[in-house]
Amino acid sequence: MKTRGMWRGIEWLVVVALGLGGCQQGGGKKVVALLLPESKTARYETQDRPLFEKRIKELCASCEIIYSNADQDATKQQSQAEAALTNGARVLVLDAVDGAAAAAIADKAKAQKVPVVSYDRLILGTDAVDYYISFDNERVGKLQGEALLAALGAKKDPTIVMINGAPTDNNAKLFKAGAHQVLDGKVTIAKEYDTPDWSPDKAQDEMTQALTALGKTRLDGVYAANDGTAGGAIASMKGAGVKPLPPVTGQDAEQAAIQRILTGEQYMTVYKAIKPEAETAAELAILLLEGKPAPADMTKGKVVNNGKKDVPSILLDPVAVTAANVKATVIKDGFWTAEQICTQAYAGACKAAGLL
Ligand code: BGC
Repeated sequence: MKTRGMWRGIEWLVVVALGLGGCQQGGGKKVVALLLPESKTARYETQDRPLFEKRIKELCASCEIIYSNADQDATKQQSQAEAALTNGARVLVLDAVDGAAAAAIADKAKAQKVPVVSYDRLILGTDAVDYYISFDNERVGKLQGEALLAALGAKKDPTIVMINGAPTDNNAKLFKAGAHQVLDGKVTIAKEYDTPDWSPDKAQDEMTQALTALGKTRLDGVYAANDGTAGGAIASMKGAGVKPLPPVTGQDAEQAAIQRILTGEQYMTVYKAIKPEAETAAELAILLLEGKPAPADMTKGKVVNNGKKDVPSILLDPVAVTAANVKATVIKDGFWTAEQICTQAYAGACKAAGLL
């Protein structure tokens, strides 16, 4: 009797354990949160978000996605992350407005056993980051600097203005460091600005200030950290009647920037293939949701230290784009179609670049 009762007890325990396991796998909602930093830069709403969401749905049709955009506001991002956790997010994919402030978000997630993927921008000073997916960002800055030097050619003692990104974005620091490595000693940097929030409007104001200080004739080139700030700088120079426009750098291969490159208003941009970045982030999120680590061939042993941890990392390769290789890069890769770039106003420039 006693033995039988004991077996009954064990049977019951097994049934409960199986039931709970089943519940966790099937019953628990599978929620992934994607938290992006801003919407003034075109990439986030037009590329990162749809590409990420599509890949999640392909891999996990029953998964739910919580999406938030912080509009360049770190406090807003903190509340959005907290709301995602409250609403059952089991993985956070976070593109931090402020890399240092976002440590608090990652710590909170870790305390609730929610893994964190640092998306595009590194979250600093915390061990609560599981993976980092981005591009080789110092290389981005070097490509920009090298292209600017090439455009300046044999000009004697050229003078440039540097318009960097947001000081709270770790990427902006890396772009700036990469650019300085190439430019320092080769050009005179007459004015240099860090642009709060990466705001194109603020970049425009910075350029206007620089022009007032320098006068139009002393400007040989402009280092702008991305296409949004390049657009601001170009608008300022056009407004001030600078002619011809000096070479201007950029980043993101935005549609408007490719069009400016074809007409000669902007010299270059840096193409970062967002598709593999967003899709790999989605793949990582699903692995983490299932409690699995990333396979070794995904990170290839690469780590990036964030001040507290060697974070397993995937860093993709950026590519410099000028009018000479628009066709062989962004068009060939399907990032833009010739039709999207070559609207009526750009037909002539497109023909000249061999796009039509
Ligand atoms: C991204 C760039 C973007 C910039 C402004 C950076 O962290 O890497 O692609 O242009 O932020 O949002």
